[in-house]
Amino acid sequence: MKYPEVRMRRLRRNRIIEDLVAETSVASSDFILPLFFDENISTDRPVASMPGVVNHPLSRYEQVGSSIEESGVKSVIVFGTPKNKDMYGSQASLSNGVSQRAIRGLKDNSNLVVISDLCMCEYTDHGHCGIVHDGVIDNDKTLLQYGKIAVSQAEAGADIIAPSGMMDGQVSAIRMALDDANFSDVLIMAYSAKYCSSFYGPFRDAVNSSFKGDRSTYQMQCSNSREAMREIALDVNEGADIIMIKPALPYMDIIHEARNRFDNPIAAYQVSGEYAMIQAAAANNWIDGDHAMMESLISIKRAGADMIITYFAEKAAEELRRML
Ligand code: PBG
Repeated sequence: MKYPEVRMRRLRRNRIIEDLVAETSVASSDFILPLFFDENISTDRPVASMPGVVNHPLSRYEQVGSSIEESGVKSVIVFGTPKNKDMYGSQASLSNGVSQRAIRGLKDNSNLVVISDLCMCEYTDHGHCGIVHDGVIDNDKTLLQYGKIAVSQAEAGADIIAPSGMMDGQVSAIRMALDDANFSDVLIMAYSAKYCSSFYGPFRDAVNSSFKGDRSTYQMQCSNSREAMREIALDVNEGADIIMIKPALPYMDIIHEARNRFDNPIAAYQVSGEYAMIQAAAANNWIDGDHAMMESLISIKRAGADMIITYFAEKAAEELRRML
């Protein structure tokens, strides 16, 4: 059949018909909001490169938790900035470390699902995601440290541990450490295909990163897709419950390919630079920010993601409520 028998525009006659035939939708339960806590501050500190995002002092977890719940967002991922950084990132596994206190505070005062980013880059003075010897990352020594950090975060009450360091074997090391400590119910959301991306720039600003170099010996190069499938397959075999692709918009083909190949739930991380670009263009009235936000989120789901880590979580949840 061809025109005029088939008129595609019949499907777009009005908004209600469009809603009927919509193939993809987003709900506030799909969103995971990144939260930053900093031990060195006593009032909220706005992140200059991410308008609308603030770094919280630990004293704020109660209010922060309840305002997120009111927005309809049900999940958060926690990042911490510690008082002291050292070569070994030793503060990352303290039972009263910044992340652990934030996790405990959120769990005690809300029903949010609390995901804990597990990395050492916020805790090391060199800013790398692992233990460095003579300028080189020691993968397997780092895994021992990751295991300890995971257990300390689970003890604080984290529901899901999300290792973001891209060390080989990190998922199985963390699974074993958690199981040995009787945390077999704690999930692992693996940053499986994490690319070495310039879109992380504003995040490093948010966590006061001391990082100068680059992460290309552990994060993936943007040219590769098949390699991402190998990374994901390994993580699935090592026991990852949820797999993640990061960033999202420039890597939609990776999300799509992963959806076709794997049956695990897929998370996509719409990273700081993606957020900053939309916010900056919107602030200049170059694009309609609210529409661009919803379009980007729906598109990430259409590509195959089940859930989206996004700095827009609360704003998008409000927009969804407004659209009802
Ligand atoms: C830590 C980590 C990073 C992000 C999440 N976890 C930074 C990095 O790898 O340099 C980036 C998140 C974002 O840009 O929004 N390893």
